[in-house]
Amino acid sequence: MPSDKSSSVMFDAALLQDVNLTKYGISFKDEKQTPTNPEPGIVIRPLAADDFEKGYTDVLAQLTKVGEVDQAAFTARFEAMKKAGFYYPIVVEDTQVDNGKGGKIIGTGTLEIEQKFIHSCALRGRVEEVVVDSEYRGRQLGKLILGIITELSRSLKCYKTTLECKLDNIAFYEIFGYKEDPEKFMQLRFRD
Ligand SMILES: CC(C)(COP(=O)(O)OP(=O)(O)OC[C@H]1O[C@@H](n2cnc3c(N)ncnc32)[C@H](O)[C@@H]1OP(=O)(O)O)[C@@H](O)C(=O)NCCC(=O)NCCS
Repeated sequence: MPSDKSSSVMFDAALLQDVNLTKYGISFKDEKQTPTNPEPGIVIRPLAADDFEKGYTDVLAQLTKVGEVDQAAFTARFEAMKKAGFYYPIVVEDTQVDNGKGGKIIGTGTLEIEQKFIHSCALRGRVEEVVVDSEYRGRQLGKLILGIITELSRSLKCYKTTLECKLDNIAFYEIFGYKEDPEKFMQLRFRD
């Protein structure tokens, strides 16, 4: 794996700077805090190659079945996604957790972008795998993840951004302007 710092992240962190989330009712107690540094010791940034050891798949397991993913499998998938482009996974890290790993991943969400011919060769965004560690919920971290992903899809010029969610979470996504679509989502599942 390349060892220089710039190649160890999935995408350029500069894309997350200067995002303004005030229209979603997100504000901070201290004016030094920002969407990507919302609390002392908490950072929101692109997924990095060393996030497996910081518990990335452990937090994903609070959302769905992760299956057998070891360091080698994580690294192979990370590199493949990075090479493909159009994957924007972000993570929330608690840098103050004393676990010998330099920090703990406590939340995540991913923007995936599809390239289309339709709508004048448009881009379509999809929000995937949004989850906050159960011990950190209720601190507006979920809102920050969704707000940052949504604004990223806007700034990357997606013509629309969609997601699938459980009925219980509809109200959460409505905060950001997502609306229920009359079209039905269908799937053919080949395995769990
Ligand atoms: C959904 C989830 C990401 C929210 O994260 P969180 O950090 O606890 O959320 P926040 O603290 O940012 O809460 C934001 C607001 O949304 C509200 N909210 C949180 N979860 C909600 C839900 N399921 N439905 C409706 N509103 C919700 C909160 O009350 C809060 O409202 P407020 O701003 O008026 O106080 C988190 O509960 C989670 O990880 N759940 C399990 C995984 C999951 O279901 N992910 C979504 C997949 S579709």
